[in-house]
Amino acid sequence: MTDTSPHPAHEHAHGAPQDPDDQSEILDLDAEVLGEQTASIIDWLPVRSDPRRIVDLGCGTGAGTFALLRRFPDAEVTAVDSSAGHLHRLRHKAEEAGLADRVRTVRTDLDGTWPELGAPELVWASASMHHMADPDRTLRQVHGALAPGGLFAVVELAGFPRFLPPDAPADRPGLEDRCHAALDRHHAEHLPHRGADWGSKLAAAGFTVEGERTITVDLGPTRSEAVGRYALSSLTRIRGGVAEGLDAEDLTALDRLLDTEGPHSILRRDDLTVRTEREVWAARRD
Ligand SMILES: C[S@@+](CC[C@H](N)C(=O)[O-])C[C@H]1O[C@@H](n2cnc3c(N)ncnc32)[C@H](O)[C@@H]1O
Repeated sequence: MTDTSPHPAHEHAHGAPQDPDDQSEILDLDAEVLGEQTASIIDWLPVRSDPRRIVDLGCGTGAGTFALLRRFPDAEVTAVDSSAGHLHRLRHKAEEAGLADRVRTVRTDLDGTWPELGAPELVWASASMHHMADPDRTLRQVHGALAPGGLFAVVELAGFPRFLPPDAPADRPGLEDRCHAALDRHHAEHLPHRGADWGSKLAAAGFTVEGERTITVDLGPTRSEAVGRYALSSLTRIRGGVAEGLDAEDLTALDRLLDTEGPHSILRRDDLTVRTEREVWAARRD
């Protein structure tokens, strides 16, 4: 669910194509590394009975879709996204897992005409609501689409993951902090709804917010190969998006970490971690 896009997927206002950069690889790595956290968020949801019709809004490559299918074995999931690449990957994974008959994919721009999604008992939106041009409108549309008594789960990133230990002697001190500061400046310009007060927004759209939770993730020092690839992909994307926000020495240090052939490659480290926070809201349509 990491959202590293230096160019948000939805950039109509700038006239760019709708899906300028496919994030499939990083979304798959995120699902692999943080799958346990996603499962525990789903377990926490106050569903009244197991839902049979579920919608995953802004599903990406299916981190939420597959976790929901596992948790609710009688359910079908409609996976909605504007990215053909993400949906293609999701369908491929569903076929490989023998789950294709329980997944329907819908390619649509949720800022446009609302698609026909049936009357789901559960709608899941992870790291996608802040991409909407007018999230208040989207929340009202979800409220209208849900079956009465249904639940809307909104998951948002409280912060971008950190991978380097804060005091690693091999790095330029504070390098990752400065990357984050540059990324935050970039996001403030391109993704103005990131970090919004989703509880208030949900209430304004007519929902009763039944639960709110912050999940703190700290995987600790790990040699996990997936964490190495996740860190490499994430910092590579940051490098592309925030280069102008870092000084020359920081860029050199970052390039050393990203040079997979070099002695300082992030893939050779055994002190990487994943530290991040996710916020979750469970909102009921009465
Ligand atoms: C950060 S990814 C999160 C993906 C997935 N929910 C996860 O947790 O891994 C955001 C997703 O929202 C999709 N998205 C962004 N704007 C959209 C829009 N206007 N309509 C439909 N999907 C959109 C993107 O294509 C991307 O797949």
